[in-house]
Amino acid sequence: METLKTIATRRSVRSYTSEQITEEALMAILKAGGAAAMGMRSYNRLHMSIVQDKELLTRMNKNIGAMMARFAPDKANNDFTFGAPAMIIISCKDPDNTPMKGMHYINSGCVAQNMMLAATDLGLGSFVLGMASDAIKNDPQLQSDMNIPSDFTPLFGLALGYDAENKVIEKSMDLTIEVSRA
Ligand SMILES: Cc1cc2nc3c(=O)[nH]c(=O)nc-3n(C[C@H](O)[C@H](O)[C@H](O)COP(=O)(O)O)c2cc1C
Repeated sequence: METLKTIATRRSVRSYTSEQITEEALMAILKAGGAAAMGMRSYNRLHMSIVQDKELLTRMNKNIGAMMARFAPDKANNDFTFGAPAMIIISCKDPDNTPMKGMHYINSGCVAQNMMLAATDLGLGSFVLGMASDAIKNDPQLQSDMNIPSDFTPLFGLALGYDAENKVIEKSMDLTIEVSRA
C-alpha cells in the first residue's frame, strides 16, 4: 500500500529551491534506477551522468531556449530546468541497435520511473526533461563537459531537487489511458 501512495504522490515538480540534494539521497536514487527491469540485462548500454554544475545546466538551458525559439519565441528565455540543482542525464550507446525494437528506450524509462519514485519517497521533487536530449546531443562540447561518453546518445534528463512550494499532492489515480479487455 505504501508503494501505491508513493506512485500517487509522484508528480512533475516545476519549481525548486537552490538547496543541493544530499549524496546519500543521490546514491539511493541511482541505486533505485539500477534496480529497474532491464531488457536483455543490457545495463552496460545505459549511462547516467550526474550534473550539479550550474554553468553546465545554464548552457544546456540556453540550448533548449534556442530550440524553443523556433516554435515558441516567447518561451526562449524560460528556465526549462525550473531551478533544479541536480540533473541525471540518461544516455544510451547506439539506442536503435537492438533485436527488440525500442528496448533501450523502454529500459531507460523503467530506470527513470524507479528513480522518480525513490525521489518522491525521499521527499524530493523530480521531472523528466525530454528536451535535454537534443540540447546536449547537438552540442558535443557540452556532452563532453558533462562527462557523457561520446559514443552514447543522451536520451533525457531527470531533474532533482527540493520542491520550492513544498506541496504533497496525492493524485486520484484515475484511468488516464484507454483500456480494453478481451
Ligand atoms: C518522455 C518525457 C518527456 C518529458 N519532457 C518534459 C520536458 O521537456 N519538460 C517538462 O517540463 N516536462 C516534461 N515531461 C513531464 C510531463 O509533462 C509530465 O510527466 C506529464 O505532464 C504528467 O504530469 P505528472 O508527471 O505531474 O504526472 C516529460 C515526461 C516524459 C515521460
